[in-house]
Amino acid sequence: MEVKPLEAEAERRACLEIAKALPEWFNEAGLKVMERDLKSETTFIAVEKDQVLGFITVKPLNDKALEILWMAVRREFRGRGIGTEMLRFVEMWAKANFEVLVVKTSGDLNYKPYDETRKFYERRGFVGVALIDPYPEWGEEALIYVKCLRKC
Ligand SMILES: CC(C)(COP(=O)(O)OP(=O)(O)OC[C@H]1O[C@@H](n2cnc3c(N)ncnc32)[C@H](O)[C@@H]1OP(=O)(O)O)[C@@H](O)C(=O)NCCC(=O)NCCS
Repeated sequence: MEVKPLEAEAERRACLEIAKALPEWFNEAGLKVMERDLKSETTFIAVEKDQVLGFITVKPLNDKALEILWMAVRREFRGRGIGTEMLRFVEMWAKANFEVLVVKTSGDLNYKPYDETRKFYERRGFVGVALIDPYPEWGEEALIYVKCLRKC
């Protein structure tokens, strides 16, 4: 498995298909924004035998913080370390230019799918720093996670 920048239109479509098959995490409104972000922001994909298995999209929040906008792994390949590998790649890539990684996830602590997501980030060193309820753009609660890329 290799992690590399998204380049081709077919790869972009594959990313969207991966997310569409995960409706517990991504609704129609989210998919629309994702489609736009996949065109305009930086995305890295995990590829094996010409198949896109996952993606991670990032965007600078400012000159010190890089935000993970989207991340997903093809449903049948979840839990095999692909997400961890993509995150590690982004951390290495971001280290030279940014001090922290930021990610916003659902702050609905009773919703199980996002509970898995939150645990994924927490086990990889992300620290929850704020629960915003409601987060204006979403109309629902958001939990903000931060991870230092250098010693802080
Ligand atoms: C979050 C996500 C990107 C992680 O990618 P991944 O390839 O599954 O991640 P890994 O295999 O490296 O690690 C998965 C961890 O979640 C755990 N996990 C819990 N429930 C799981 C499930 N149903 N399937 C897979 N892994 C699960 C694994 O046991 C593993 O635990 P660990 O932290 O103790 O190692 C991926 O699972 C995914 O696409 N989730 C749905 C969408 C999402 O939450 N996106 C992020 C928000 S934008």
